[in-house]
Amino acid sequence: MKLTLAFLLPAVAFAARLSQIPFQETPEVEAFQIYQSEYSEHHSIRIKQQQNNSLCDAHSKQYTGWLDVGSKHLFFWYFESQNSPSEDPLVLWLTGGPGGSSMIGMLQENGPCLINEGGNGTHYNQYGWSKNANLLFIDSPAGVGFSYLDEGIPLPGDSFTTAQDLHHFLQIFVGTVFPSLADRDFHITGESYGGHYCPALGAQIVAQNTLYPKRQQVNLRSIFVGNAYVSPVDTAFGYWETLCTTNPGVSEPIFNKTRCDIMASNLPRCLDLARLCYAHPDPAICAAGSTVCWDGVISYYDGESGSGGSRNRFDITTPCKSGDDLCYLEAAWVESYLNQPHVFDALHVPKAVGNYSIYNMNVEFAFELTGDLGISLQPQVLYLLENGVDVLFYQGNLDLACNTAGTMKWAESMAWTGQPAFVAQARKAWELEGREVGWYKEVKVETGSGRETTFAVSTVDGAGHMVPYDKPEEALALVDRWIGKRSFA
Ligand SMILES: *[C@@H]1O[C@H](CO)[C@@H](O)[C@H](O)[C@H]1NC(C)=O
Ligand SMILES: *[C@@H]1O[C@H](CO)[C@@H](O)[C@H](O)[C@H]1NC(C)=O
Ligand SMILES: *[C@@H]1O[C@H](CO)[C@@H](O)[C@H](O)[C@H]1NC(C)=O
Ligand SMILES: *[C@@H]1O[C@H](CO)[C@@H](O)[C@H](O)[C@H]1NC(C)=O
Repeated sequence: MKLTLAFLLPAVAFAARLSQIPFQETPEVEAFQIYQSEYSEHHSIRIKQQQNNSLCDAHSKQYTGWLDVGSKHLFFWYFESQNSPSEDPLVLWLTGGPGGSSMIGMLQENGPCLINEGGNGTHYNQYGWSKNANLLFIDSPAGVGFSYLDEGIPLPGDSFTTAQDLHHFLQIFVGTVFPSLADRDFHITGESYGGHYCPALGAQIVAQNTLYPKRQQVNLRSIFVGNAYVSPVDTAFGYWETLCTTNPGVSEPIFNKTRCDIMASNLPRCLDLARLCYAHPDPAICAAGSTVCWDGVISYYDGESGSGGSRNRFDITTPCKSGDDLCYLEAAWVESYLNQPHVFDALHVPKAVGNYSIYNMNVEFAFELTGDLGISLQPQVLYLLENGVDVLFYQGNLDLACNTAGTMKWAESMAWTGQPAFVAQARKAWELEGREVGWYKEVKVETGSGRETTFAVSTVDGAGHMVPYDKPEEALALVDRWIGKRSFA
């Protein structure tokens, strides 16, 4: 199948054997404790503690299980903070796609343990994000990774349905399963298509907190998303700057003048159509925009990346190492590790899951059909800022797929109280132990909520799409700063 979609994270070679084979079956409740939502008869959590570190040397307590929502079942893996579980905030991580398993984040990027070469085990990660935070990974939406659907239930196709389920999950998680977390600061983070998921979930939480003040509140303080796919139009626009200038931090532009001129002349039509999809999110219009942007702009690089060639769209300075569309060997290792029978046993994976797959292409197609891939989540970002939720977008500067140029374009064009100060501000360097790591812009303004609210963009030089993978120490420093004081100054 030809990838007509301009911006999606690409098909993965092993997508063919991804099926989360759906059988109706009663979960093996014996291994799990069950917690029922007070507010929805359809939502409950089944959870078990991992008795030892055989799966993941986490240096803290760890729990796994599923959120059961009627016919949908969402897998999670929860690590207590290694520092102070009773005081540290709660952080939720969502990998993108749509269709990517959050186990990519956990085992390749920022979990307390990382996959071994070859995928025969894991080892402790000294830069894991559970160092100073209680850290939760969820495979989302249903149909991704260890998350599954009962037979005959269609795959979710947008960023909003799952946000509703995850909000219920969080209410049970902090209200009933771990009540000591109820008053703790909560942050949503993620990567890539997380630029859709995180604002959507954040907005759902704020809306539900406001609508139902007597129900369990979820104490959302910020969202922070890495190389976020928020605004497709601007991501496409940023292709030219990323490939045709030295701004990403390369000594020579990646593309020559011939190619750059072609892309520049095709860009206006791509932008016009993609904006039409914003105004009229009809799947047919959005698909047309995607096709024109792909043919005229995106394909010059992406068509030669991943399984289409040796380029890597997640890091313009490195080759594609695996020949599949993710370009990283770790993806196959994670898959091979998590498919081992002893892992299935320890997690008590229901038979309905069949095989674990790190990427579900059919989820991506489902999102394509609804037009979710082509819309901007900027309205949700604005809603969060207006309601006093701090927002950070952090960027690895060598990424093309969700490039820094595009993020800056929409961040500066977003009309809100903080816009003039944000636009006027010069980029400032931020440092780690005297070393310049990247730059940032941040503004703190009083919004409709009456609370000082921070909006920031920060970058990491020399990192691609997966910042914690490329620059683990810098990524942890960035996260600790954000969680600690919401400022890079
Ligand atoms: C994994 O493979 C490496 C190298 O082949 C070997 O040294 C190690 O013992 C293996 N670990 C496990 C848990 O099998
Ligand atoms: C520009 O780059 C393209 C693709 O790498 C190549 O085919 C073409 O020959 C180059 N043109 C010039 C003038 O170097
Ligand atoms: C760790 O726990 C699993 C059950 O989850 C058990 O099968 C295994 O024997 C335990 N390993 C050790 C070393 O205790
Ligand atoms: C899992 O994958 C293996 C190899 O790809 C295959 O032989 C097996 O039938 C699959 N099992 C299920 C339950 O899908």
